[in-house]
Amino acid sequence: MLAKSKPSNKESVQKQLEACLSDLLARIDTKSSESGHHLSPETSLFKKVHAQLNEMKEVQLALEESNEKLAAKIKELDSITHYLISILCNISQGLLFIDLQGNVTTYNAAMEKILEVEPQRVLFKKFWSNFDDKLFGFSIREALAHQESPETLFVSLNSPFGKHYELEINTTFISDETHSNQKEDSMQGIIILVRDITEIKRLQLIAKRNSRMKVLGEMAATVAHEIRNPLGGIKGFASLLERDLADKPSLKKMATAIVEGTDSLDQLVTQVLNYSRPLQPHFESMDLVKLLQELRTQMLADSAVRNRVEIFVETPLSCLLIQGDIKILRSAFLNLLINAVQAIPQKGHIILRINQTDTHALVQVEDSGIGIPPESLEKIFSPFFTTRPDGNGFGLAEVYKAVEVHGGEIEVRSIIQKYTEFTLKLPLKAYK
Ligand SMILES: Nc1ncnc2c1ncn2[C@@H]1O[C@H](COP(=O)(O)OP(=O)(O)O)[C@@H](O)[C@H]1O
Ligand SMILES: [Mg+2]
Repeated sequence: MLAKSKPSNKESVQKQLEACLSDLLARIDTKSSESGHHLSPETSLFKKVHAQLNEMKEVQLALEESNEKLAAKIKELDSITHYLISILCNISQGLLFIDLQGNVTTYNAAMEKILEVEPQRVLFKKFWSNFDDKLFGFSIREALAHQESPETLFVSLNSPFGKHYELEINTTFISDETHSNQKEDSMQGIIILVRDITEIKRLQLIAKRNSRMKVLGEMAATVAHEIRNPLGGIKGFASLLERDLADKPSLKKMATAIVEGTDSLDQLVTQVLNYSRPLQPHFESMDLVKLLQELRTQMLADSAVRNRVEIFVETPLSCLLIQGDIKILRSAFLNLLINAVQAIPQKGHIILRINQTDTHALVQVEDSGIGIPPESLEKIFSPFFTTRPDGNGFGLAEVYKAVEVHGGEIEVRSIIQKYTEFTLKLPLKAYK
């Protein structure tokens, strides 16, 4: 540390000596002018030494001053370094700097969070000794060799611990032109900035799904309206025919088939109109654990279900109160349970997991059924999407609406021939 110290003993002795010297010189001067004698050589040497001493004193003062300036500059540089390091550590973007030899020289906390590898293992090691060379969607080796990299790209990444990330990658080559005029000679390495856009992508997907479902719902409602009136007429005339053809059994059978057909069409129309009508929820305090236990009992009351499917309720909670519409939620969970049973080809199980966070109830419905192919995962919540011969594709569309009206979220994960898991996140407090 550079700092001005207190005057030491040495300094005060030096000062006294200087005072004596000055005094002595003054006396010599007066004596020599009084006597008119020339100065002896010793006396002039003595005077020279004194002059040099004065000069040294000035140099010392100047040195002290520049020392002080230097100390202030070092302090300033220190605080800039700290400032830059704290920015690097705290930015939400992941940052990685790789020098031309492939060594990682900067690796911030956000990057560590995404890649899940400790800095000690990464820093000052070759990038590819810890990670796949093409981890960020381009070859780091090739980029360093040619000093060229894609500016922006988007990649999906599965971390070693199974977390899925959607990432936006930005890369730039850094050169230090203050030390060289040639750009190639001054190239230092590549900087990789990584932005986690998983949540943004998820919200975009929800918004896209919402608008698609809105359009589909509105279209379905219009078509249903248009069908309902002529359908009434068809049913009326077919019923008249059925009555008049009482003595012609083979013809009467056809009229009956028409009446039955119009009945099932009418049911579908009613379902479409119900779906397109906004839900009018009535929020009250209700116990989700109790509701799901009841639904389990209800499902198992049917021997066709009981004989091939086991249903478990897994929860650390004895009750979980939320503000919700019990009718809407009962019907939503029933839809999920019916789908789960239908997805189990022979024997299998369903697990209902109930947990809570500070703000939300989390309910998972998992079945050991046939699973959902990835290309269908996005479509299953749309009305009319069905893969079952007798299905109408309204079950999950209604579940989606039920969750939405509670201000919640629904997600699905599935592996074909293994399992399907729906996760519902419902706010504990009423959604306004
Ligand atoms: N638990 C599940 N396992 C596998 N596939 C499912 C499951 N739940 C829903 N599906 C798929 O989603 C489609 C839509 O379901 P849903 O909206 O309830 O309509 P529906 O039951 O009338 O077919 C089903 O036809 C099926 O392909
Ligand atoms: Mg269904």
